[in-house]
Amino acid sequence: MGKKFYKSLPDMSKARNRVDSPRLRREEIIVPEKVKAFARGRKYWISTFGCQANVRDQEIMAGYLEEAGFLPAESEDEANIAIINTCAVRENAEEKVYGEIGKFKANHLKDRSFLLAVCGCMMQEEKVAEDIMSRYPYVNLIFGTHNVSSLLNLIDEHLGRKRDIVEVLSFPGDIVENLPSTRLDEFKAYVNITYGCDKFCTYCIVPYTRGRERSRHKEDILEECRKLVEDGYQEITLLGQNVNSYGKDFGDGTSFASILEEVAKLGIKRLRFMTSHPWDFSEEMLDVIAKYPNIMKCIHLPVQSGNNEVLRKMGRRYSREEYLDLVRKIRTKMPECAITTDIIVGFPNETEEQFLDTLSLCEEVKYDAAFTFIYSPRKGTPAAKMVDDVTDADKHERFMRLLKVVENGVVEHAEKMIGKTYAVLVDGPSKKDPGVLSGYAENGKLIHFKGPKALRGHIVDVRVEKSHTFSMIGSLVEDPWISLAKDLKTSLLEEECAKRYFACKKAFEEDEGAQALRDQIEAAQREMMRASKEGDDLGYAKAKKDYASLKEQYENHPCFLNLVHSGEEVRQMLEEVMGELA
Ligand code: 5AD
Ligand code: SF4
Repeated sequence: MGKKFYKSLPDMSKARNRVDSPRLRREEIIVPEKVKAFARGRKYWISTFGCQANVRDQEIMAGYLEEAGFLPAESEDEANIAIINTCAVRENAEEKVYGEIGKFKANHLKDRSFLLAVCGCMMQEEKVAEDIMSRYPYVNLIFGTHNVSSLLNLIDEHLGRKRDIVEVLSFPGDIVENLPSTRLDEFKAYVNITYGCDKFCTYCIVPYTRGRERSRHKEDILEECRKLVEDGYQEITLLGQNVNSYGKDFGDGTSFASILEEVAKLGIKRLRFMTSHPWDFSEEMLDVIAKYPNIMKCIHLPVQSGNNEVLRKMGRRYSREEYLDLVRKIRTKMPECAITTDIIVGFPNETEEQFLDTLSLCEEVKYDAAFTFIYSPRKGTPAAKMVDDVTDADKHERFMRLLKVVENGVVEHAEKMIGKTYAVLVDGPSKKDPGVLSGYAENGKLIHFKGPKALRGHIVDVRVEKSHTFSMIGSLVEDPWISLAKDLKTSLLEEECAKRYFACKKAFEEDEGAQALRDQIEAAQREMMRASKEGDDLGYAKAKKDYASLKEQYENHPCFLNLVHSGEEVRQMLEEVMGELA
């Protein structure tokens, strides 16, 4: 295309001064005519790197593209439009992006109208967009994390004006609702509750790439979750860089504990949340997690380092002692609760002694799982300016030692699982062996077991038999068809017409008039029997007449009519189900 148009570029230095309060915008999706025409018969592909926030952005972008009429491509080479959704959290995530852009050169050569967009966190870094635009002439659009909702307009402008566009907004901090969405999973859903981060840990680029911390309104979150429950989703994960900060920006006492409790009450089978910051993890949160059985007892609690001086330099706002105290509180309240973490080794000038504190903390906590990273300097963050005297070789060597200690904890937890039964939400056939099913237990552990594919999306009991440390092998406790039947029964009982039927049944049983009629009918029947035994023909005829009249009254009783009507609705619903199964 050639012509480049830089509409806006990011300015990281403004990040700390952002003061504007977030604006709420309710999106009205209008597909520009040119985009509609272009989408006809064309397929899209999205490659996503990084965390769940990016996965959720992918679902929203897919929602926009499908609204326009694009169809999902089965593979990259089939795509007529591709979006690369980038991550900036560590350098190695960035390196992968360049390789990914290279992959789409073939699409460009094959199809001159092929459209390539690059977006996400990495685009929020200074100079990255200009660099990509100059190195890859077949990149047509670059946008950032704040203007995902402009996707269709950017495509429109690109098609209309025949120019490649860069639009990376720095920090508008808007909250956009009514976003379209094509979810990647049929049973597990991510729901954003907060965007951005205000913590500014000194090593982290997220506050710069995702903007200021802003909470979605409670009603919007609840509405999204309610819809997911109705649509048969089994698991919701509430997402935020820092879920426990939820609601603080409203200044009206709204807290994460309150939204967690309200979502739990909607009746979703499994509720998860991530990520929690150890600094503002309240007792109230712990109480809610402990109270609701559908809130999974699994807490991701990034520690980053076990040394107080390093924690201070990282700007983490808690000490080793405070962190350990929180772990103790969690375990006292919920002994079975899994605790997982993130750890960074080789923060600038980390000494051997400081690193040993991280090892001893891991030995003490014994995490169920830990994500371990070697510190990666991120341009624009305070830590990137620190002079660092730790060699790469030392960082790698510490990293390997850390892996060993972490693994010891994981092994211990995994072995304790052997012989116990866990409820597993079945994802489907395992990636490695299609003959085996995989799913996650409440504690976040992956379990493989044999069973029919029909169990996908169901929660079944699995007995753990063997540990592979990071995943487990088990076997189904119950006959799989019984599990399915139980699930079917639960779903049927949750249908509105079934609920109406049971309400009518109860009303009819409790109605005094109806009860009196039942007593009278029984009395008339007894009288008929007596008269017939004793040859009292007159008495028999009278009792029979009474019986017929009472029966008629009974069958015209409003409660009876309601019951018959609601029963008919249930019968029709069952017929429809049977029709779909046939
Ligand atoms: N270098 C290494 N790891 C980092 N993380 C965030 N920033 C960096 C960095 N600059 C890790 C933290 C965080 C996780 C998502 O990524 O451990 O919790
Ligand atoms: Fe990054 Fe710290 Fe915010 Fe987490 S809390 S996103 S590590 S700045």
